[in-house]
Amino acid sequence: MNILIKNASILTMAEEAQIMENTNIAIENGKIKSVGFVPEDFKADKTIDGTNKLAMPGLVNAHTHIAMSLFRNYADDLPFWTWLFERIMPREDKLTPEDVYWGSMLSIAEMIRFGVTTFADMYFFMDEVAKAVEESGIRASLSIGLSDSGDQELKIKNTKEFYDNWHGKADGRITVMAGPHAPYSCGPEFLAKVIDVAAEKGMGIHIHLSESKKEIEDSFNLRGKSPIKHVYDLGLFELPTLAAHCVHLSDEDIDILAEKKVSVANNPGSNLKLGNGFARVEDMLKKGINVALGTDGSASNNNLNMFEEINLAALINKGYTGDTTSIPAITAVKMATINGAKALGIDKEVGTIEVGKKADIILLDLNKPHFYPRYNLVASLAYSAQASDVETVIVDGKILMENYELKTIDLEKVMFNAEICAKSLIG
Ligand code: NI
Repeated sequence: MNILIKNASILTMAEEAQIMENTNIAIENGKIKSVGFVPEDFKADKTIDGTNKLAMPGLVNAHTHIAMSLFRNYADDLPFWTWLFERIMPREDKLTPEDVYWGSMLSIAEMIRFGVTTFADMYFFMDEVAKAVEESGIRASLSIGLSDSGDQELKIKNTKEFYDNWHGKADGRITVMAGPHAPYSCGPEFLAKVIDVAAEKGMGIHIHLSESKKEIEDSFNLRGKSPIKHVYDLGLFELPTLAAHCVHLSDEDIDILAEKKVSVANNPGSNLKLGNGFARVEDMLKKGINVALGTDGSASNNNLNMFEEINLAALINKGYTGDTTSIPAITAVKMATINGAKALGIDKEVGTIEVGKKADIILLDLNKPHFYPRYNLVASLAYSAQASDVETVIVDGKILMENYELKTIDLEKVMFNAEICAKSLIG
């Protein structure tokens, strides 16, 4: 379907802070054909009136565990290690593929409504997540979460098969990475095996690194070095790596991440809620590290609202550094769009509104009091906008939500089934 978005304000993210007023986007065969003028030979099957709307690239949630929405508001206000090992993991052991499917659909519905067009996920029963991605029309980078307990060979085999079965599938909307959970859940020998299989298949790595103070202390006690230095020595960073969190970093850690061009998924909401502190985002960006934004799972957030993360990134880094110029609005929006695409290795295809790129575009309804007056729309995205302002979502040139109505998901059915699954897990 050829789509014409007419008379919208457009934030392309191709040029920093460039807003084009009262202009058009033509979409043909899933790709952006033009921005600004409409080519004479372009025939639109569908025209979207962009009056009083802002079109921008869809948001990229660069680190999450979407099926954890089933544990939303179940275990809160607890120490990180109690939360993870005593409350969450025992419930996760009871998860079935069906639970993961409905939890994923619930989260995908939430993300589409909040303007997220791509997410990076690491969890169990990932075939179910992949099915949910395929059916819903969203874009995703998927990883089976791996720990070294149980049958390691089987886990490696599953990761290989998952890659063969799903990488490039759903019209190219699904990509696959290897997902060793963390250095504290994957010993060095197992990590080496994961690195080998990822290298063999050409997969990137999605991993949690340096999330809590305890993780750093344990790593020094056990190995005499930081988690970052440990996986660097194992050769993990020779592969394209998406490292979630990276909260507690030494200067040496930052130099390693910069040298090896590791992308970092900063999760300010989750880090605050689990008491893990503040990442050195400003220092990482200054060293040229690609820092993206993520929500983490909605058991530690407790939503998948990337506008909230944009707002948090823009606010808490100012408070943390004492410098009001830290993470200006445009940088926070960049982290949630093109930096996210880069972290997932798909920045040539999505992340900006540019001719030739895939049409992953969201429209915000600006006809609301918190958008007036209109001095600076970029500032409004970081400091005034709400996720509920997203009214239309296009992924791969297909409309997934129009005028606040989901087109590919039966929301009532999804919420009903997710509730049944949550009850069976928690009772
Ligand atoms: Ni996580």
